[in-house]
Amino acid sequence: DEAPGLSDQILAWYDVHARALPWRISPADRAAGIAPDPYRIWLSEVMLQQTTVAAVKDYFHRFTTRWPTVQDLAAAEDGDVMGEWAGLGYYARARNLLKCARVIAKEHAGVFPSTYDGLLKLPGIGPYTAAAISSIAYDLPETVLDGNVERVMARLYNIDAPLPGSKPLLKDRAAALTPDRRPGDYAQAVMDLGATLCSPKSPACGICPWRDPCLARIAGTATALPQKTPK
Ligand code: ADE
Repeated sequence: DEAPGLSDQILAWYDVHARALPWRISPADRAAGIAPDPYRIWLSEVMLQQTTVAAVKDYFHRFTTRWPTVQDLAAAEDGDVMGEWAGLGYYARARNLLKCARVIAKEHAGVFPSTYDGLLKLPGIGPYTAAAISSIAYDLPETVLDGNVERVMARLYNIDAPLPGSKPLLKDRAAALTPDRRPGDYAQAVMDLGATLCSPKSPACGICPWRDPCLARIAGTATALPQKTPK
């Protein structure tokens, strides 16, 4: 369920400030009934797991030009896929990517499962990726929790319990905020807010769509959050 108002505020901000990313459809296109391609959402989310948006863009373009569909990727030679992945690092991601593409091609007739639980069963797809594909591609109200979202939630609710122990609490807060209306745009809006205005060291609280409700801004604790348990 939804705390009234908060999701509307960030969606209004996203309507104006959404980053144009190669795998993303604009809020206007989505409102016009255009749906994102789950293959492109999956590929981008796997690439973005340990890699910046700036570094991913060119790789994403080369992959989708060479292999426009999941069936094309499934039919690729292992060495060609590993070669295109070279430089992105964390090569287990690329091996799982290919494994996953082949399962979808062989066992799902080339169609991505359309539920969180169905996605979670696939190789290399964990809770983060399953939630990202469910929400962004299928507009389902699943809760995406990455480092950016954790920081935004810790600040909005001024949670000073340290990560990683605070993860379940942050996830609960994030889930309670996830709206039934436009959940895909909402998930991307929170990620964009964390990647842009709600930065770790110099958050732009003055222009944030959540400046009024943000408990860390009110308390003056934003830059100290989230806390982390020392390793
Ligand atoms: N980082 C990872 N996935 C993202 C997305 N879909 N939108 C914005 N930032 C992201």
